[in-house]
Amino acid sequence: MTDTKSSKAASSGDTPRRVFIKSFGCQMNVYDAQRMADALSAEGYVETATPDDADLVLLNTCNIREKAAEKVYSDLGRIRVLKDAAAREGRRMTIGVTGCVAQAEGAEIVARAPAVDLVVGPQSYHRLPSILKQSAKGAVIDTEFATEDKFDFLAPPSRAATRARGVTAFVTVQEGCDKFCTFCVVPYTRGAEVSRPVAKIVAEVERLVDAGVREVSLIGQNVNAYHGEGPDGRTWSLARLLARLSEVSGLARLRYTTSHPNDMDDDLYAAHRDLPALMPFLHLPVQSGSDRMLSAMNRRHTRADYLRAVERLKTAQPDIAFSSDFIVGFPGETDADFQATLDLVAEVGFAAAYSFKYSPRPGTPAADMDEQVPEDLKSARLAQLQALIDREQAAFNARCIGRTFDVLLEKSGRHPGQITGRSPYLQPVQVMADTSDIGRIVAVRIEDVRVYSLLGSRLAAQDQQNESAASAPRVAAIAHGA
Ligand code: SAH
Ligand code: SF4
Ligand code: F3S
Repeated sequence: MTDTKSSKAASSGDTPRRVFIKSFGCQMNVYDAQRMADALSAEGYVETATPDDADLVLLNTCNIREKAAEKVYSDLGRIRVLKDAAAREGRRMTIGVTGCVAQAEGAEIVARAPAVDLVVGPQSYHRLPSILKQSAKGAVIDTEFATEDKFDFLAPPSRAATRARGVTAFVTVQEGCDKFCTFCVVPYTRGAEVSRPVAKIVAEVERLVDAGVREVSLIGQNVNAYHGEGPDGRTWSLARLLARLSEVSGLARLRYTTSHPNDMDDDLYAAHRDLPALMPFLHLPVQSGSDRMLSAMNRRHTRADYLRAVERLKTAQPDIAFSSDFIVGFPGETDADFQATLDLVAEVGFAAAYSFKYSPRPGTPAADMDEQVPEDLKSARLAQLQALIDREQAAFNARCIGRTFDVLLEKSGRHPGQITGRSPYLQPVQVMADTSDIGRIVAVRIEDVRVYSLLGSRLAAQDQQNESAASAPRVAAIAHGA
C-alpha cells in the first residue's frame, strides 16, 4: 500500500468513506495511487491502512512479470472474503483493479474474479469518481486511452496530504513508451509516449515545495525521452526542464528515472555537469551485456554504446554512480552471453542493480521466440548475477566510510533519536538528529555500513534548510570500478 494518509475529512457532507489502495510495481504506480487518492479525497474519501473496514479497495497492479500479474488474483481472493463479510454486516465494499494488469486484461479480470466491480486502466484515472458511481449498477471496465489529458482532471493533493507524504515526492513528467523491447508489456499497458507541458510540471513542483518537499524525482517510463511543450511554445528536453526546476526556490534535490541509454543527449550530459541540484546517481537500465541479446531484445543499443554513455556521464560528473536493470535467461541466452553480462557489471561497478529472470509475457514478441531458457538455468544465472551485484554494492558502500555526504533527513529512524535520511546515492543513512530536523539537509560523516544502510554522525549543526538548489551537493570522490 502507499504510505499516503490523508487527514482531509469528507467534503461531501456525510461520514467519510474509506479507501484502501495497494500499489504493486514501479514508482509511477506509487505516484498514480496518490493521484487517485487525491481525486477520491475530493469525493469525500479518506485513506485507510487496511482493507478490512474499507468501502473501496483498489489494487493498483503491475503486469511486468508473470508473478506480479498473478499476485493480483491471490489478493483478490482474500479481498472477496472481506467483501462477503462486509455484505453480511449490511455494508457494501467496492473492489477495483487499476494499473497495468487492468489495462492488459480488462474484462477478463471480472470473468476470473466476479467480485471485482471496476477495472480502470492507467489513462482513465480521472474518470474514477464517475466510474465509481456507475459501478453501483454493475461492473465497469474502462481501458480506453483517453484523448484528453488526465492530469487536467485529477485533483491536486491538499497541503496536508502532501506534508503527510514526506519531504520527497515523485512527479510524472512523461508516460508511455514507443521503444517496444521484445520482452516488455509497458508499451501496451501505458500506451505511446506522452510528455506533460512544462508549465504544469513547474506548477506541481512549486505546490509540493510550498508544502515542504525538498527533493523531487521526475518519473516516466522513458523519462529522458521527455519532449514537452515549453512556455515559449517550443519543445523542451528533459535537460531544459531540469534546469527550469532547479530554479524553484526551496527545492534542494532533483532526480529523474527511468532513463533509456539511447535518449541520453548532449544537453542531459551537460545538465549533470552544470546543475548542482541534480543528484549524481542515475538508474540506467542495460538489461544485458551481450550484443546478441541486446539485439534480440530490440534495445537498439550495443554494449559499447552503453559504456560510452556511462563514460560521458562520469566525465560530466566525476562523482556519479549508477544503478541498472538486468534480465537473465532471455530466449537464446548462452553461457557466453551471460558471461558478457557479468563482465559488464564488473566493468561498470554499479552502486546498486536489479536483476530479474526473464518472464514471457503474453502478446510480446519474445514470448514466442524459440530457445526459451529452462527455469533452473535462469535461477542459477540469477543467483550468480545477484551475488556479484551484492558484492559490488557492498564495495561501493564500504568506500563511503570516512566520506562526508549531504543527507536529506526524511523520517524517524529505527532507534530513538535516530533519523533516517538519504545520501545523494539514495542510500539510507541513519543519523542522530531531532524530528524537527526532518526536511533539512545536513553534513554527515559516514562511519559504518549495515546491510541496507549507512551509519553516520552529523558534522555540524549548521542549518542548511534554506539552502537552495544553487548550492553544490557535497559528495566525496568515489572511485569507480570493481
Ligand atoms: N522503462 C524502463 C523499465 C521498465 S520495466 C526501461 O526501459 O528500462 C523495469 C524492468 O523490468 C526492466 O528494466 C526490465 O529489466 C524488467 N523487465 C521488463 N519486462 C520483463 C520481463 N518480461 N521479464 C523479466 N524482467 C522484465
Ligand atoms: Fe519496456 Fe523497453 Fe519501453 Fe523500457 S524501453 S518500458 S523496457 S519497452
Ligand atoms: Fe509494472 Fe506497469 Fe510499472 S507493468 S512496472 S506498473 S508501468
